[in-house]
Amino acid sequence: MIGLERITHGNTLVFKMIRLRALQNDPTAFGSTYAKESQLSDAEWLERSLRWSSEGFIAYLAFDKENVCGLVACYIDEQDCQQAHVISMWVDPGYRRAGVGTTLIGGLKAWAFDRHLRELVLMVTHVNTGAISFYERLGFRKSGKTEPYPNDQAITEYEMLLPLSS
Ligand SMILES: CC(C)(COP(=O)(O)OP(=O)(O)OC[C@H]1O[C@@H](n2cnc3c(N)ncnc32)[C@H](O)[C@@H]1OP(=O)(O)O)[C@@H](O)C(=O)NCCC(=O)NCCS
Repeated sequence: MIGLERITHGNTLVFKMIRLRALQNDPTAFGSTYAKESQLSDAEWLERSLRWSSEGFIAYLAFDKENVCGLVACYIDEQDCQQAHVISMWVDPGYRRAGVGTTLIGGLKAWAFDRHLRELVLMVTHVNTGAISFYERLGFRKSGKTEPYPNDQAITEYEMLLPLSS
């Protein structure tokens, strides 16, 4: 049974550990890099966990008993207060295809419904076909907007949207 726990200052070190593992394991899945984030001090990780637990943000760790096995975060857009960005989605390879990712997105959707948000939005690299299938399975659709992936000129990012109104 997978449980979700909000990221707060109290679980910052677990958050740091799984985020660095995600960046090492799946380097082309994220806009940031292990090289960059492994340089952050513990004070900077604490600052991030406080920000990610503040108003307008939500971030979850997924646990299988005491084992952390997934991570996701989401924040409300500064210009469009009905849209929220999904970031840092990652499931430990040993737990994939077992519903952990679906549970994490379910946590975000519940939070977004409570706030009457219109949609969730995210960016996914074109080479990440597994994640694209995952998001499509959950109802996300490509919006048509693309951006260059900052860490590799050969890679494009697709924007995907999940409407929440219906
Ligand atoms: C994408 C990711 C988060 C999916 O997490 P997960 O826990 O394995 O997903 P779920 O088990 O909830 O999958 C639900 C459904 O999505 C689809 N799906 C998930 N992963 C898939 C894959 N690799 N290929 C094809 N379809 C996939 C399937 O339909 C799956 O249902 P099924 O297993 O019954 O066929 C995970 O593979 C991951 O962390 N990848 C690396 C990091 C990453 O790419 N993050 C996204 C950044 S934008």
